[in-house]
Amino acid sequence: MTVSSTVRVRPATLIDVAVMAEIEVVAFSDPWPASAFRDLLSASHARITVAVDAHDLAVGYCVVLQAADEAEIANIAVAQARRAQGIAGRLLDLALKEASISGVTTVYLEVRLSNTSARALYLSRGFRQVGRRAAYYRFPTEDALVLRRDQPAMQ
Ligand SMILES: CC(C)(COP(=O)(O)OP(=O)(O)OC[C@H]1O[C@@H](n2cnc3c(N)ncnc32)[C@H](O)[C@@H]1OP(=O)(O)O)[C@@H](O)C(=O)NCCC(=O)NCCS
Repeated sequence: MTVSSTVRVRPATLIDVAVMAEIEVVAFSDPWPASAFRDLLSASHARITVAVDAHDLAVGYCVVLQAADEAEIANIAVAQARRAQGIAGRLLDLALKEASISGVTTVYLEVRLSNTSARALYLSRGFRQVGRRAAYYRFPTEDALVLRRDQPAMQ
C-alpha cells in the first residue's frame, strides 16, 4: 500500500473537528461526539494529528494521550473511501515517533476482537497482545484486546 502523494499530515485544529466527527460516525458503532475532539484539542496531555487531502480536508486522524512515559492510542480512523492507501499506517508511524521524542517508552491501545484490519495494522507496527477486557465495548458488546508496544530506544 502507498500513501497518495496528495495526502499530508499535520496537527489537528478546531477547523477539523466537524470532518473528524463525520469520519468517526461512519467508522465506529459507538462514536465519540464532536465535543470529545474539541475538548482534547486544548488538553495538554493529548495530541491529535490529521491526514488531509489536497483541499486540506481531513481524511483520517489519530489521537494520542500521554501520561509520563506511557501513551495510549485513544483513537485512529480513516474515511472509508480512503482506506487501504497507507494513511493509518502513516498516522500511526508519526504518532509513535512523536511519542518517542516526548519520552514515551510504552504505548498501549485497545481494539475490538473482531477488528481484523485494525489488528493487522497494529501487528505490523510491533504491537503485541498483553491482555483482554471482557465485554469492554458496546453496540455490540465485545471483548477488547489490550495491545502494547515497547518503543525502540532513540538513536
Ligand atoms: C483500521 C483503519 C484505521 C486502517 O486504516 P487504513 O488507512 O485503511 O490502513 P493502512 O492502509 O494504513 O494499512 C496499514 C496496515 O494495516 C493493515 N491493514 C489495514 N487494513 C487492512 C485490512 N482490511 N485487511 C488486512 N490488513 C489491513 C495492513 O497490515 C497494512 O499494512 P501494509 O501497509 O504493510 O499493507 C481503518 O480501517 C478504519 O478507519 N477502520 C475503522 C476505525 C477503526 O476500527 N479504528 C481502529 C480502532 S482500534
